Amino acid sequence: MSRMSSLFSLVLFVFSESFAQYVPPYTEECRTNMYPPAGPTYKSTVAWYTIDLDTPPYKRWNQLLSDKKAELAMLNQVIKDLANAFVPSGKLVDLVDKKLPSLIETFPSPFHDELKGIADVSGVPLGEVLLFNIFYEVFTVCTSVVAEDSAGKLFHARNMDFGLFLGWDVKNHTWVVTEYLRPLVVNLDFQKGNKTVFKSTSFAGYVGMLTGVKPGVFSVTMNERFSLDGGYIGIIEWIIGRRDGMWMSFLMRSVLENATSYDDAKNQLATTKLLAPAYFILGGNKSGQGCVITRSRTTSLDIWEIDAKQSQWYVLETNYDRWKDPFFLDDRRTPAMKCLNQTTQAKISLEKIYDVLSTKPVLNKLTVYTTLMEASEGKLESYIRDCPNPCMPW
Ligand SMILES: *[C@@H]1O[C@H](CO)[C@@H](O)[C@H](O)[C@H]1NC(C)=O
Ligand SMILES: *[C@@H]1O[C@H](CO)[C@@H](O)[C@H](O)[C@H]1NC(C)=O
Ligand SMILES: *[C@@H]1O[C@H](CO)[C@@H](O)[C@H](O)[C@H]1NC(C)=O
Ligand SMILES: *[C@@H]1O[C@H](CO)[C@@H](O)[C@H](O)[C@H]1NC(C)=O
Ligand SMILES: *[C@@H]1O[C@H](CO)[C@@H](O)[C@H](O)[C@H]1NC(C)=O
Repeated sequence: MSRMSSLFSLVLFVFSESFAQYVPPYTEECRTNMYPPAGPTYKSTVAWYTIDLDTPPYKRWNQLLSDKKAELAMLNQVIKDLANAFVPSGKLVDLVDKKLPSLIETFPSPFHDELKGIADVSGVPLGEVLLFNIFYEVFTVCTSVVAEDSAGKLFHARNMDFGLFLGWDVKNHTWVVTEYLRPLVVNLDFQKGNKTVFKSTSFAGYVGMLTGVKPGVFSVTMNERFSLDGGYIGIIEWIIGRRDGMWMSFLMRSVLENATSYDDAKNQLATTKLLAPAYFILGGNKSGQGCVITRSRTTSLDIWEIDAKQSQWYVLETNYDRWKDPFFLDDRRTPAMKCLNQTTQAKISLEKIYDVLSTKPVLNKLTVYTTLMEASEGKLESYIRDCPNPCMPW
């Protein structure tokens, strides 16, 4: 408990520091020459694991989870501590352990068998495994970008910012969950018949997808969208039994596994009924194929497409509708666009996008990893990030 902050101290911190988002050292000139990754904002590369889709779902995560058991147990303990700090009787964790497991049966194949396999290999109770699979759906504040160069080549990249409000460590000025999440980041190569179907940057123990590429076809990322008719309502409805919407990251996984073209992926992401609103950012393998799909639970509200002829050579999404201003304490959009504009279409590349994603506050205390993708070449590379003090909490 002592290393966790009370909500009060977080609020104090927010008031003392977040108005500083627009002044150095919390913001900075656009970074250059950050690639290849090195220095204090780069922690490490990410290990690769193969997930064999020809193996039964219950077994396919065995290798990964037996390697990451200890790290998963630590994150799980931190989440339980947070829950117990929130509801001190321990009743919340009790509820998770007793009630959530039965809900796993309602998940479509292959998810329920995969989750059971993960629980059994890791020794983490099934309800708790399910809980942090839900967690990723609601605490991701990110930056995603798809850009087209002058030759019509498409680049797709994202910062994964995760752990907002999940325990502010007053002493270290870090988010507790974010810190424990970094060791769980893995690159996954999903194969069938020993051939890659898609690749993803993910977290050990998680069966949905938030970032991925289907070589030669498309790349896709998901960002959280806050809304009044938001995720929490859909999730509560799901728990009490109304289950006609799909989890967003399960849809992502299913699209990466089974969609056959950019248009097929776009159509599925735009029309499938969801549990919560979301932004899907999709890149293709040829000129003009890049878009941000703004989703409500039931429908697509807006599809913003790259149109290089109209000098719209990139699309960028943080966590706000593009037709609205970002929340004034959380504007990562303007600095990221400023840096992309400075770079220009003639000079854009994955290396230059890495520079943009390394510029504060686009890079912030929540940033867990940066992934760079290129669908036409089937490329996916990712880096664990850090944002040493002074740095914005988000
Ligand atoms: C906080 O920082 C100290 C010193 O760098 C380190 O030993 C400790 O593990 C950190 N705490 C957490 C929760 O990360
Ligand atoms: C994949 O490769 C392994 C060994 O390299 C082989 O044993 C296995 O049969 C192959 N699987 C398929 C589906 O081709
Ligand atoms: C993809 O399609 C196959 C074959 O229809 C199905 O067995 C599998 O469950 C699907 N994958 C996902 C993640 O929905
Ligand atoms: C792009 O993807 C389509 C399938 O959507 C495929 O037919 C085509 O060969 C791909 N082009 C390249 C350059 O990989
Ligand atoms: C970036 O350029 C676009 C297109 O010219 C423009 O609409 C936008 O306002 C610029 N944004 C920033 C932050 O410079």
